[in-house]
Amino acid sequence: MKILVTGGTGYIGSHTVVELQQAGFEVLIIDNLSNSSEVVVDCIEKITSKKPHFKKIEMCNFNEMDSLFANNTDIVAAIHFAAKIEVGESVKHPLMYLENNLLSQINLLKCLEKYAIKNVVFSSSCTVYGNPDSLPVNENATIKKAESPYGSTKQMGEEILEHTVKSFNLQNISLRYFNPIGNHKSNLIGEIPHGVPSHLVPYLTQTALGIRQYLNVFGGNYNTIDGTCVRDYIHVVDIARAHVVAIERLIQNKNKSNYEVFNLGTGIGFSVLQMIQAFENATGIKINYKIIERRSGDVEAVYADTTKANNELGWKAEISVEEMMRSAWEWEKRLQKEKNKL
Ligand code: UD1
Repeated sequence: MKILVTGGTGYIGSHTVVELQQAGFEVLIIDNLSNSSEVVVDCIEKITSKKPHFKKIEMCNFNEMDSLFANNTDIVAAIHFAAKIEVGESVKHPLMYLENNLLSQINLLKCLEKYAIKNVVFSSSCTVYGNPDSLPVNENATIKKAESPYGSTKQMGEEILEHTVKSFNLQNISLRYFNPIGNHKSNLIGEIPHGVPSHLVPYLTQTALGIRQYLNVFGGNYNTIDGTCVRDYIHVVDIARAHVVAIERLIQNKNKSNYEVFNLGTGIGFSVLQMIQAFENATGIKINYKIIERRSGDVEAVYADTTKANNELGWKAEISVEEMMRSAWEWEKRLQKEKNKL
């Protein structure tokens, strides 16, 4: 069965393609390569001994999408990862973010309608919860006003799907990721930050390697265990596995309604200082850090209630934080050696 994976050469997309192929699915990746490289397709082949189909497509161009579907009438489902994902950049260029993330999604849904494909999984984010009123946060929590245009595109993406499933024979699962980190144990695919990393773990591993002098810890006076922000860090392979479960659920019509939402987290919150400690425990390397002022837009604490995903999907995050850190460290070392090739 052929699954279309948009953004399949990206970080979470590539890990998901690996899991899909290993579960026996045929995969067609589309990506505009604006934030990833076609080399990833070969890396996936090295891991799975099977090359996924790949086509460079600009999803914002409806005609390109239309001819892709016309030439691939055997697609049974789509997983939609393709999106711009930098919060800071989205604040500087809101229209670019809204246009890119929403138009690509709308074009995909127009094609699903036109070609009568009824299954779609959407890549959403815990960012939709903002600063939650209670923790752990479950799927029924109030959706807070988005802190950034990036966050808006995830909220609107969910809303677009909620409306669209009522208009034609479409069923959707939206997966709200908490903080994905780590990478595949083969060390062949992983997160490739461009420029100075904005996410915690790539910045931390670059500090460990000496590329950055200090890790700046954003804020030390939050109302948390040690004053630093708390997040639910989850291994990207655990996230990827959940997509296979979601796709099977839709294809086998095991879903309870045509619009479902699940949290993907471990259910455990770690502070920034606890993450530094976890890295030091996992690798034996000390991290230089400085506590500086808060980063605007950061929420104090967010971690998932995973009951629904555990019970309904039969899925549970399995990989420990030490393993997440070990894999992130191995990847960082490879990235610096081979960054020109990746
Ligand atoms: C960010 C986005 C979120 C998005 C997610 C995945 C923001 C406000 N949120 O989550 O919408 O869904 O990425 O793309 O950007 N930290 C430091 N020093 C650093 C980097 C981070 O102390 O150099 C801290 C942050 O303050 C935060 C934690 O580490 O408490 C995690 O930060 P990060 O990895 O950027 O993810 P989020 O901000 O949680």
